Amino acid sequence: MSTATALAGRRIVVTGAGRDFGRTLAVRLAASGAEVFLSARTLAAAEAVRAEIRALGHEAVHAFVCDLTDSASIRACAAAVAERTDHVDVLINNGARWLTGPDLLAGSDDDVVDTIASGATGTILTVRNFLPLLLASDRPDVVTMVSACGTAGHDRSNAHDAFYAAKSAQAGFGEILSKRLRGQGVRVISLYPPDFDNADPLSDEWENTPREATDPLTAQSVVDCVLFAITQPRDCFIKAFHFEQV
Ligand SMILES: NC(=O)c1ccc[n+]([C@@H]2O[C@H](COP(=O)([O-])OP(=O)(O)OC[C@H]3O[C@@H](n4cnc5c(N)ncnc54)[C@H](OP(=O)(O)O)[C@@H]3O)[C@@H](O)[C@H]2O)c1
Repeated sequence: MSTATALAGRRIVVTGAGRDFGRTLAVRLAASGAEVFLSARTLAAAEAVRAEIRALGHEAVHAFVCDLTDSASIRACAAAVAERTDHVDVLINNGARWLTGPDLLAGSDDDVVDTIASGATGTILTVRNFLPLLLASDRPDVVTMVSACGTAGHDRSNAHDAFYAAKSAQAGFGEILSKRLRGQGVRVISLYPPDFDNADPLSDEWENTPREATDPLTAQSVVDCVLFAITQPRDCFIKAFHFEQV
């Protein structure tokens, strides 16, 4: 099967798709033939990425607003997607607020609330609200962009402690969910990448970024991991991707 059709017929929801890696995922998934339901914190950001993807000739792309810190917004997003499709094959939990540390006193209390709310609570509520659409699929996958910060004992990031906590919550959620949803045929796949640069998938850099053994992990390789995991036969349930750091 060619790259352009690897995801043909697959309906995929991506959160936090207004910029950076979420945008990259939306662009690359559409290029692989998926119908993409992308969401961002603002409708304008989601619509801008939708326009970029349509300009590439991929019409099957939809834009939604979804603020992951707002339960009503998440419910409304799932309801709006349900008006367009009777099932979702893949939900990608990509959106999560970054907060720089490493000083616990860095940032404000509100920054801490926002970081936990978007990454931890937002991910759980997103899966809850999209679960009926996922269970209506005959090949449902939940993919979560955790982080090396969600790995026990990790301390190599300059992320804030609240970001570590949010990512650890995503990790714990994915761990139990992968077991509890398995009986219903849902694969729950978590990625734990270290920091990686977000090359623009529409730039020459996307094709030219060095990807040798001594180079740091690239967004290109992270996308390839997601594509690999969700295109495996259903018996191949890759639960987690961990990466050795350079
Ligand atoms: N890049 C890395 O090095 C790396 C490494 C490990 C894991 N990850 C994880 O991979 C994912 C994507 O990474 P990234 O590099 O693209 O991160 P990023 O540049 O920090 O972008 C974060 C994304 O999350 C969205 N977001 C933040 N708060 C939100 C909210 N309340 N509601 C909806 N969306 C919200 C942002 O949207 P706005 O534009 O509205 O802020 C943005 O699209 C994240 O979960 C990140 O933690 C990234």
